Amino acid sequence: MMSGNIYPRTTFLAQLEKSAGQKLSEFAWTYLSYPGAEGQTCRDNCEALQRYRLIPRNLRDVNIRDTSVTVLGSKLDFPVAIAPTSFHKFAHPEAELATAKGAAIMNTLMVLSSWSHHPLEQVADAAPRGVRWFYMLFYRDRGWMKRVLERAEQAGYTAIVLTADQPLFPLNFNERDVAFPVQFSLPNIWLDDVTHGPPGSPEFDAFLKKVVKQAATWEDVEWVKNNTRLPVVLKGILSVDDAKIAVNMGVSGVYVSNHGGRQQDGVPATIDVLPDIVAAVGGKAEVYLDGGVRTGTDVLKALALGARCVFIGRPALWGLAMNGAEGVQQVLQFLKDELSLAMARAGCAKISDIQPSLVVHESYYLHRQLFNHTGKVNNKILTSKY
Ligand SMILES: Cc1cc2nc3c(=O)[nH]c(=O)nc-3n(C[C@H](O)[C@H](O)[C@H](O)COP(=O)(O)O)c2cc1C
Repeated sequence: MMSGNIYPRTTFLAQLEKSAGQKLSEFAWTYLSYPGAEGQTCRDNCEALQRYRLIPRNLRDVNIRDTSVTVLGSKLDFPVAIAPTSFHKFAHPEAELATAKGAAIMNTLMVLSSWSHHPLEQVADAAPRGVRWFYMLFYRDRGWMKRVLERAEQAGYTAIVLTADQPLFPLNFNERDVAFPVQFSLPNIWLDDVTHGPPGSPEFDAFLKKVVKQAATWEDVEWVKNNTRLPVVLKGILSVDDAKIAVNMGVSGVYVSNHGGRQQDGVPATIDVLPDIVAAVGGKAEVYLDGGVRTGTDVLKALALGARCVFIGRPALWGLAMNGAEGVQQVLQFLKDELSLAMARAGCAKISDIQPSLVVHESYYLHRQLFNHTGKVNNKILTSKY
């Protein structure tokens, strides 16, 4: 007799996560995989995606499939890109240089974080043909901010990503019960050679307070918009009202994210808020999503519900940890292949075939069974084991 979970969600990525956890030091693993507080939101991101059902359209010619998509004017081979994540050196010695190479080989986009171990110019040089955006912190010093914007423009970054869901620093390292073992430079945050103490130390916190604006406001977003010729993407949007303000301010991309659950725990899963945000944006900006995307059907569902592109955070770091640039490439290739297969099975030959009618939330079926077509309660269901 079979027992337990006979259909576990064992995919390449689940195995990779496990292997990365075994390979990395406890410190590095804790930092890179930290789910945030109780981990409710982090878990829910994945589980919520599984609560949507696909209604495939069959008998369509899906022999040849085109997964390519245009994101803010850049053509990508498929709509899965790399979210900004900090401190890649904890995963691999080549750090962000390897991540950038992996993304470029797969002809997709990488968002480089301000918290990178390498200067943004070096990352650009490592993968000159790659599409890259730069996630910029809000600094207190507008002159410094302007210089960073100009550096990103000159180095060929094609959009600026601002993160809206991290009002306060420092990062709560104590909450995670880890201490940074090393000192290192963060060349996109400060250029001097002065050490500022390891992250988490009182010196580091004091320095960050001096440098980083806590907390940024809409006025800071507007300032960035007015001081760069690059399109601005606002990441960390969960509220319809914030999405509307962003669009009215003229941002080019509204990026639905809850920071992979690493900021406020207990906020909704990103896939659950996506349809409302898409409706609020009303086609005036591109809409993206991250959080818990682990399979081709996850990507398909997010696209059907209106995302133009999805981003992955942790899975890219697992790939990086196991195999550097090649590992990042393998993760992206896996998701590309999975998406292509999921598209075939859903009757979609190209991205524009992926329509909202492809996806239904599981609650729809329960509702249908609870209420018959006259709107009256179906008593049979109420007395059943459901
Ligand atoms: C180790 C780590 C570092 C992160 N650093 C940043 C960051 O510097 N800026 C940011 O906007 N988001 C950051 N994030 C959040 C990611 O951009 C992204 O929203 C999240 O990881 C997506 O969820 P997923 O990991 O389930 O794919 C980080 C996430 C992780 C796991």
